[in-house]
Amino acid sequence: MDRLTRARLIKSARAAEKRAYAPYSRFPVGAAVLTRSGKIYAGANVENASYGLTVCAERTAIFKAVSAGEKEITAIAIFTATEQPTPPCGACLQVLNEFSTNPLIILVSRKKILTFRLRQLLPHGFKLNDTL
Ligand code: THU
Repeated sequence: MDRLTRARLIKSARAAEKRAYAPYSRFPVGAAVLTRSGKIYAGANVENASYGLTVCAERTAIFKAVSAGEKEITAIAIFTATEQPTPPCGACLQVLNEFSTNPLIILVSRKKILTFRLRQLLPHGFKLNDTL
């Protein structure tokens, strides 16, 4: 990915964090996915008074992309205004696995940027009819 696209992706994740609805955890998260067509879709975590209904920022962004007709995600940036970067939860890794082939995962905090590939964080994601 070129530097400009990476910068745009990170900027989108940062902007999305501002739109998080996280009155219960007070832990706002922003995410932005880059699709193979070159488009960026951003999302934030959306909580609910019935806590278990909360949707993470990553899945909000992924579902926005997929419901706009995108099926292939090449990178995701995740922003939290914390000291250390926040890795995606297991559920979000599995959902990302459905719509990507080992994409870049860029974790951004106030002080650090860490880059991974999906396979590093989810070595054996579930795929129907896939055996180890
Ligand atoms: N959260 C995310 O948005 N992404 C993650 O990868 C981990 C957790 C949200 C869910 C909830 O709104 C808050 O962070 C605290 O768990």
